[in-house]
Amino acid sequence: MKRIYIFICLLLPLVAQAQQNSYRPAEIAYPSFQTSALQMGNTTLPQSDVILPFTSTTPSQSNSPRRAPGGGHSGGTTVETPGLPIGDAVIPLSVIAMIFVLFKTLRRRKSMLCSVLAFTCLPIFAECEKVSALPTFGDIDHIHLPALLVQHADGDQSLQLRAQDTTYMDNAQYKETVIATKDLVQPFFVTLHVRQWKAVPITETWYEISHTEKKPVRLQRFDSGYLPLENGDLYLVHLHGNWAGEAVPTIERLTRGVKSIRNSDGARNAHLDAPQVMISLDGVPQENSGRVLGAALCWSGNFEIRVAATDEKGFHFYAGIDPMASEYILSPKEVFTTPHLAYTFSNEGMGGVSRAFHRWVRTCGMLHNGNATRSILLNSWEGIYFDITEERIIAMMNDIAAFGGELFVMDDGWFGGKYQRNSDDAALGDWIVDTRKLPNGLEALTQAAKDRHIQFGIWIEPEAVNTRSELFEQHPEWALQERGRELKLGRGGTQLVLDMTNPKVQDFVFNLVDNLLTKHPEIAYIKWDANASIQNCGSTYLPRDKQSNLYIDYHLGLIKTLERIRAKYPDVVIQNCASGGGRANYGLMPYFDEFWVSDNNDALQRVYIQWGTSYFFPSNSMAQHIGGSPYLMTGRTTPIKFRCDVAMSGRLGMELQPAHMTDTERAQCTTAFHDYKELRELIQLGNLYRLVSPYEPVPVVEQQQVASLMYVNDAKDHAVLFAYGLSSFMKQSSRRIRLAGLDPERTYTLRERNVRHGEQPCALDGQTFTGAYLMSVGLEIPLSTEYAIDYPSRIIELK
Ligand code: DGJ
Repeated sequence: MKRIYIFICLLLPLVAQAQQNSYRPAEIAYPSFQTSALQMGNTTLPQSDVILPFTSTTPSQSNSPRRAPGGGHSGGTTVETPGLPIGDAVIPLSVIAMIFVLFKTLRRRKSMLCSVLAFTCLPIFAECEKVSALPTFGDIDHIHLPALLVQHADGDQSLQLRAQDTTYMDNAQYKETVIATKDLVQPFFVTLHVRQWKAVPITETWYEISHTEKKPVRLQRFDSGYLPLENGDLYLVHLHGNWAGEAVPTIERLTRGVKSIRNSDGARNAHLDAPQVMISLDGVPQENSGRVLGAALCWSGNFEIRVAATDEKGFHFYAGIDPMASEYILSPKEVFTTPHLAYTFSNEGMGGVSRAFHRWVRTCGMLHNGNATRSILLNSWEGIYFDITEERIIAMMNDIAAFGGELFVMDDGWFGGKYQRNSDDAALGDWIVDTRKLPNGLEALTQAAKDRHIQFGIWIEPEAVNTRSELFEQHPEWALQERGRELKLGRGGTQLVLDMTNPKVQDFVFNLVDNLLTKHPEIAYIKWDANASIQNCGSTYLPRDKQSNLYIDYHLGLIKTLERIRAKYPDVVIQNCASGGGRANYGLMPYFDEFWVSDNNDALQRVYIQWGTSYFFPSNSMAQHIGGSPYLMTGRTTPIKFRCDVAMSGRLGMELQPAHMTDTERAQCTTAFHDYKELRELIQLGNLYRLVSPYEPVPVVEQQQVASLMYVNDAKDHAVLFAYGLSSFMKQSSRRIRLAGLDPERTYTLRERNVRHGEQPCALDGQTFTGAYLMSVGLEIPLSTEYAIDYPSRIIELK
């Protein structure tokens, strides 16, 4: 049998780079994975325009989906790769992917460098050793870690996958290679998928696992992807945080040993550590230069991302569902599909990775209605909390309509029957309107919204129940619980999580949304909250021998329910909220239009939280609200102009009691909303360039700590810059900010937007500069001179 190896190398661009740096091949060639190579029968190899330079014989082309001629066991055409004398043939899956990335990126720049790189790397690439796409326990040496570890029905723990069949798909949006493999001994099958998007430099990998063994198989680790990385000065960038302090970029050098990032909240997976990372291959990561790999695990449950340097030769990247307490019991003929893992690679630093993810998210179905802009709203929570009355709600509607806003959202506190929702300790699950607070029901509110030409939205927390609720009295078995053990209670001392593995619970959640929207078709927006982690890891629905499926089946049940909701209600805007940004992940965002970035609306801290969040999420998905001042959580006082400007860099909204605002504050908000509407498309759908990080050390002591970012449209003829002064002292000098992403040849005229109430636009207003000047010399944005000591900010439009 011919041995054909699957290469899943990021190495190509790295190797090319290495060659340019005159490294000896041995220094960059990949470590010995010879024994782990995934072998295939005679199989036709993927055809790709981007690997044509490698091939002397190409497989016959047919229409998509393409199936290997001769099927899995005979007759396939072998692609010869003269520069790659590896076995008899090669399937360079991710090489294709990464060349594709490189090719697309470079092609956009109209450069011929791509083919040069492809050819120049050949001699070095030939020195590389074979790498498995999916290292499995039993098929790798003792030094390396498996991405897939199973225990077969008869107790056998080994897995030696060999390819049986390869299929190719090519449609307008992506190319996909599907390789069916089987274990050498057991009737155990893994189908690998590699999808390369055409319009964005993103490659997704995932696997389907199944078997026909006599009894269930135990899946003990099942990463969605594995990638070998070059040896070098690698840095990992990951977001660490907490409730009200989300998304702090944590940047650390990768050293020998295993670095693991994981989250075991059960229900949410982004508050503490999030399932998206970047890896800089060129030392400390830079914002707009250097080679950076981005990876996002599209999963809403527990995950583990590992970077292992188990020998001195290189690094190994793995990402998948966290195996802790999650041994998945797979019955014969069941198919388990791992979450997708999305990779991108950029030579434009972390900014390039962010822009690739943002475009993928908006255009490839990873964000519901990804290419649409979002409305300006007022949310009732921090204005009135649980003190909902019809009068107060309608007064708030008057205010948001007067400011020029477009949507009012009634948050927590509107429901409850026998148990009233006056605090967080009761009524979750009892989704009936509390007529003691709203005597005329939701009808009066939707009508009031209509009368004011705004839309109406409502808060729910569908996956939760309080022990003080009628639902819990009727269906205690619907709550997650460990048999025979005392319940561990969450928020309010009474909150539990419903068992989303149970189809009856899935129906209950679906019906909650369905009833609301059927009875009140005027509801245009739902805020879907999730305020509890899974503390009782047990299900009365799952059989006793499948309890360890819970952490996973919970999310599969949730996704199934969301799919039903979306099939029936594609146009309702749904916000993904989990005590703030606890569910900022790409497992759930395809079903949601936006997410609540944080419960912390302190404008200063929001600059930081939004900065980190923007590494992976586009601005139209990031809900950013103007909070009150002094802010209730931090006690900090910030000017209304600063609060508006900070919220305006994403999806703008308000979260305060307008009745407490001064006239000046009201006037500023009205200006902000007006200007935002004119800039909305640019801000929400433009390309993000982060210019000055709030985390950046101030270079000279007398200079101000600032943060600055900008959005540029695709045509590069319209841009907007946000600049925030984070520290202010008398006699401090301004920072010069160099812009990015502009057309160097073009001349831009500057206009200040959301000018501070009662003041004239700054001196930059009306001036013109070339893109080249703005990007190389930059601008001194007046942040400290006009305003003495407070939080200054500017929004400058460029056209
Ligand atoms: C947590 C959310 O993050 C808040 O915005 C608010 O909706 C509360 N829950 C309501 O209980």
